[in-house]
Amino acid sequence: MDRLTVLSPAKLNLVLDVLKKRPDGFHELRTVFERISLADRITLTSTARGKIRIQCAHPQVPKGLRNLAFKAAALLREDFRIKEGVDINIIKNIPVAAGLAGGSSNAAAVLLGLNRLWALGLEPKQLVSYASRLGSDVAFFLYDSSFALGTGRGEVIQPLNAATKLWHVLVVPRVKMYTADVFARLKLKLTNKKDNVNILLPFLRTGNLKRLAGALSNDLEPVILSLRPDFFCLKKKLLDAGAIGVCFSGSGPSVLALVQSEKHAKSLREKFDRRYTRVFVVSTL
Ligand code: C5P
Repeated sequence: MDRLTVLSPAKLNLVLDVLKKRPDGFHELRTVFERISLADRITLTSTARGKIRIQCAHPQVPKGLRNLAFKAAALLREDFRIKEGVDINIIKNIPVAAGLAGGSSNAAAVLLGLNRLWALGLEPKQLVSYASRLGSDVAFFLYDSSFALGTGRGEVIQPLNAATKLWHVLVVPRVKMYTADVFARLKLKLTNKKDNVNILLPFLRTGNLKRLAGALSNDLEPVILSLRPDFFCLKKKLLDAGAIGVCFSGSGPSVLALVQSEKHAKSLREKFDRRYTRVFVVSTL
């Protein structure tokens, strides 16, 4: 085998609680991840050239070490003294720097793919260790689970049992927000706060959409709205159009709406101006 094609899905955060800033500069999180149907397609081709090469038509996808997928391949190649190179072809559907972890997902897909292509024999635990060296959101994508609890800086994953399939409209403003910048602007309150994860989990298990919608939350929202106060209108517009609940995903600026059905999602999609936003109808994967 010298070629492999894999899907590399995006994630949403249904809850993102920031607990504290750690001495290492990262923030301690409790978050609920959802894997969604919006996905990139990655083809890995082992080559005799002995080089790692990113092929991607999207102009904002870095082609070198700043690309997490490149970095993932470089780490494995070095550690296992692999002579072959690899061409990493990425068909980019997930918006870049939008709070959807597209780059992290690509890195996880490369770890899983090269483990097979180069027959490295890495155990799940070892793959998780590579993932956390690459970024906080990479580990989630190694698990074959639609929903998971993320703790630590987001890289400690506990898959969640929930048979729920959710439908969303995902509104992605044509603006990038960088995770490091958003976290750096966060002012943490010292007061005791609600455990939003434990509030949401029972509704995720039972599939109670109304209660689930009421439990969506993101502690980074005040920062996202301080950078772009106009994004409040996106939330309002979705709610006015009948979304059951809305919330920002990750470090923004994507807004996720929870809706009743695919049909409902498609009708909401038409209400947004494509000049300023990209709008996707997505479901739990
Ligand atoms: O882990 P990742 O490379 O995705 O994180 C990017 C940046 O976001 C980090 O360098 C850090 O500044 C910030 N971050 C954080 N706490 C987290 C995750 C990310 O402060 N739990």
